[in-house]
Amino acid sequence: MTDRPQGLRRGLTQYGDPEFALYLRRSFARSTGLSDAMLERPIVGIVTSPSELNNCHRTMGELVEAVRRGVLAAGGLPLAFPTISLGEPFLHPTSLYLRNLMAIDVEEMLRAQPLDAAVLVGGCDKTVPAQLMGAASTELPVVQLVVGPMATGRHRGERLGACTDCRRFWARYRAGELDEAEIRAVEGRLAVTAGTCPVMGTASTMACLAEALGVALPGSAAIPAVHADRLRIAEATGALATRLVGSGRSLRTIVSQESLENAMRVLLALSGSTNAVVHLAAIAGRLGLRFDLRELDALSETTPVLVDLKPTGQGYMEDFFAAGGMPAVLRELAPFLHLDVPTIDGRTLAQVLTEPLGEPVDRAVIRPFSDPVSPVGGLVALFGSLAPEGAILKRAAATPALFEHEGRAVVFASLEDLARRIDDPDLEVEPHDVLVLQNAGPASPARMPEAGHLPIPKKLARAGVKDMVRISDARMSGTAFGTVVLHVAPDAASGGPLALVRSGDRIRLSVRERRLDLLVEEDELGRRREAWRPPETPVRGWARLWQQEILQAPEGCDLAFLRGPLRTR
Ligand code: FES
Repeated sequence: MTDRPQGLRRGLTQYGDPEFALYLRRSFARSTGLSDAMLERPIVGIVTSPSELNNCHRTMGELVEAVRRGVLAAGGLPLAFPTISLGEPFLHPTSLYLRNLMAIDVEEMLRAQPLDAAVLVGGCDKTVPAQLMGAASTELPVVQLVVGPMATGRHRGERLGACTDCRRFWARYRAGELDEAEIRAVEGRLAVTAGTCPVMGTASTMACLAEALGVALPGSAAIPAVHADRLRIAEATGALATRLVGSGRSLRTIVSQESLENAMRVLLALSGSTNAVVHLAAIAGRLGLRFDLRELDALSETTPVLVDLKPTGQGYMEDFFAAGGMPAVLRELAPFLHLDVPTIDGRTLAQVLTEPLGEPVDRAVIRPFSDPVSPVGGLVALFGSLAPEGAILKRAAATPALFEHEGRAVVFASLEDLARRIDDPDLEVEPHDVLVLQNAGPASPARMPEAGHLPIPKKLARAGVKDMVRISDARMSGTAFGTVVLHVAPDAASGGPLALVRSGDRIRLSVRERRLDLLVEEDELGRRREAWRPPETPVRGWARLWQQEILQAPEGCDLAFLRGPLRTR
């Protein structure tokens, strides 16, 4: 316990007279109709992110009510407040651009208001990373609660879930296999309930990683958004946050280098989203922890994929929940995890994992260690003359026949150039070529959108080509698949080698050697480098701050001044 002031006495508004400030605060607080007894309680903030432009958070109201019940029952005063909300498909140019802004909002409101603990309620892709980044920059005890995944829809007897099936059907439509009427019908069946995308995309991956890091209640990640258990876990989360008051148990005390390594293992075992690499790096950066792509790559060699979910496998999040969810995955991975790390409820991970599972694990969805989906992890890191600071390939979602590949580059200089030419019948492109997208990285005006999954040129798609090597400094949706090299760093807009590629150059990818190389003589590259010009810096606002401070993907695309000092231990 600390002897810091609690509740309304905490963090008084500065008038130069603390007693006046408390008197004034109490008088305004009483205007809410709360009793004196309530106003004496410790305050548990509920950080909410509802928005009518965020369909995934549609159940947030009832979830917050359940958290409130838990806080009240445990003796706290629940006070909910909103922050920015990021609804993935409703943001331009991309939600990542606003993740850091939401993180600043969360951090500053946690710090400015008289809170003794808080529950972070998020879900849609960038909201959980933003909340964890913000909270990691404070000393406040917090617990993460996610809204939970959607249920699946049905189309002609087949289950559908955003957004893996969005992409699958869209690829078939582009290839001429579906007509306009059918793609419209599919459009109405992909996202049929509240909640986050029901595959192991970014939202689900980050929910699972919050649990793996020990900052969310065990078993909370996969409960469907519309399941009654989701409300029960919300109530339990509220009660836990209240018990954390005065404990000093902030993210800084929970998340260590060891728990970060656990999260990397889990990411690999889930065959989770490539976006999670960026978010974990950002969270680590806030906490002063080391996040190293080479370490992730080394862990990938000894971490089997245990979970058979889309986009790389068969099932959906509702199957994962029914199969045993994260508690089952963590038990299976236990020999590889640091078990002495603390978790938010005060137990070590080892103690959490000694609890018996309520139900038998469905081994079709969560495989035993002895019979994994794949003996190695879903992600690899690549380095080479085209990516001196690294790049990522989700090998679990890629075509093995393309792992060792040399081909001719077909370059698109920007997203606009891509949109203009990719389906041009006169585009010079062959199935063996390598599609390259430039200027879609963090320092570009495009702000690193999920555009790395370049569409197969229509004329090749119609000829039956399903996959090609694609390379960019962009990201890819966690729900997408293909032989797609992402997050090339430094990005083209920072003057990285990616900016120097020209159509016709040879590029070599070797997953075996973890190499990505541009096969062009240094003299020629020097000439191209001299002609390169950076993008203009925006004149004002968030865009200007972003442009001036943005870090590369291996550092989490955070703003440089928001990272914490490196911890020595
Ligand atoms: Fe919100 Fe996919 S759109 S999680």
